[in-house]
Amino acid sequence: MKKRVLVVEDEEKLRRVVELQLVSAGFEVDKAATAEEGVKVVDRADLVLTDLRLPNMDGLGLLALIRRQNAQVPVVVMTAYGSIETAVECMKAGATDFLLKPFSLDHLMQVVHKALEVRALRDENRQLKEELGRRYEYDNIIGRSEPMQEIFATIERVAPTRATVLLAGESGVGKDLIARAIHFHSPRRDRPLVKINCTAIPENLMESELFGYEKGAFTGAVTSKPGKFEQADTGTVFLDEIGDVPGPIQVKLLRILQEREFERLGSNVTRHTDVRIIAATNQDLRAALEQGTFREDLYYRLNVVPLNIPPLRERKQDIPFLANHFIRKLAADSGSAVESITDAAMERLMAYHWPGNVRELENVIERSLVLCRGTQLDAGDVRLESAPRPRSQNGQHFLPEGLTLDQYEQELIREALRRADGNKSHAARLLGLTRNALRYRLTQMGLEA
Ligand SMILES: Nc1ncnc2c1ncn2[C@@H]1O[C@H](COP(=O)(O)OP(=O)(O)OP(=O)(O)O)[C@@H](O)[C@H]1O
Ligand SMILES: [Mg+2]
Repeated sequence: MKKRVLVVEDEEKLRRVVELQLVSAGFEVDKAATAEEGVKVVDRADLVLTDLRLPNMDGLGLLALIRRQNAQVPVVVMTAYGSIETAVECMKAGATDFLLKPFSLDHLMQVVHKALEVRALRDENRQLKEELGRRYEYDNIIGRSEPMQEIFATIERVAPTRATVLLAGESGVGKDLIARAIHFHSPRRDRPLVKINCTAIPENLMESELFGYEKGAFTGAVTSKPGKFEQADTGTVFLDEIGDVPGPIQVKLLRILQEREFERLGSNVTRHTDVRIIAATNQDLRAALEQGTFREDLYYRLNVVPLNIPPLRERKQDIPFLANHFIRKLAADSGSAVESITDAAMERLMAYHWPGNVRELENVIERSLVLCRGTQLDAGDVRLESAPRPRSQNGQHFLPEGLTLDQYEQELIREALRRADGNKSHAARLLGLTRNALRYRLTQMGLEA
């Protein structure tokens, strides 16, 4: 079935050109010269392409009207070059994308197809979730919780496309793992996956690392060298810690995303690259947007398919599955005989707040395997990290999040023992306890024979 695009544009010539282009690309087109006309037929549109400056109506007003009639329809706004701020305002208010006038017909079609693709992704997500419903593992990514199920469905859905994905989540939640899964389920799986850690590259080297350089571009550039984006051509670029990219590089990334073009340092030859971009961040990029350290236009270009991965403490039902997965995966390598885990040990894992997320759980299991002598991991074998989380700023919790007083006490005792290298008198002193008082507590914790 043909898709129907509504074009709202008061300038007749442009309206006509856009219409012809869309019709020749196989779309049905409704056209309108004013917002009032457009709104009448918006309910049957699969996509709305609209000018921002229309007689009697501004872009935001129009957007609100469209949403009232057809809440789900993707809306692409067309705007004059000077009014990029308005476009960004509209993106915030829920527009799908924007086109800066004058635009080429190629670019128009790219944006139209992308907007429809994103829409289709959202629609199909629910269906896929149901199909994947009984699946608790996706390519070695373990997750039974509702948000992880949703993430599997999204991976499955976006992997075959070229859509840009923005992964957000605390350190250790599995962003790298998910980025790889997306690449290896994509048609680009046999092409390079090039990871760029934006924090690890010093700012002054970043441009040449990313985009390459020509011989003589700077002192020491004795040969020419391609950058990461050239290496990744026809493959995937994984931009890790995207929030740390300095402003001037942000502009160049934006150009890669929009135009797929760049120049090597010291060259004025424009090069093209065909890369799929996956970006990751463990900071709240919206805060960076507010502070003005991250460009809004780049943010919206990256955030085509957002994937937010919740911290482990917010999906504790995943813990047993992850723990068993890591036992299976790590026991063989570490020469451990452990095959399973006791209920008591699992309870301890469930009660802990996991500030380091899945990475920390993996480390804890690995360490515990080394210490455990039997075939079952027991509560006493489990060695948790004890660094307490910083107090929350609003002072609502004064215990580390997710911990009871007893659990917190136990963490402090373990930390004291660690600092005292297992010497109980020394540990007792660190805690301001007598040796007997400490022994009593250790017995309660099941740590003292
Ligand atoms: N759902 C999961 N199932 C199995 N293993 C996982 C899962 N999530 C994370 N891991 C494992 O935890 C470790 C940390 O994951 P990963 O490196 O992907 O985290 P990250 O979000 O990229 O962290 P950072 O922000 O520090 O880079 C890896 O060894 C990974 O294999
Ligand atoms: Mg990572």
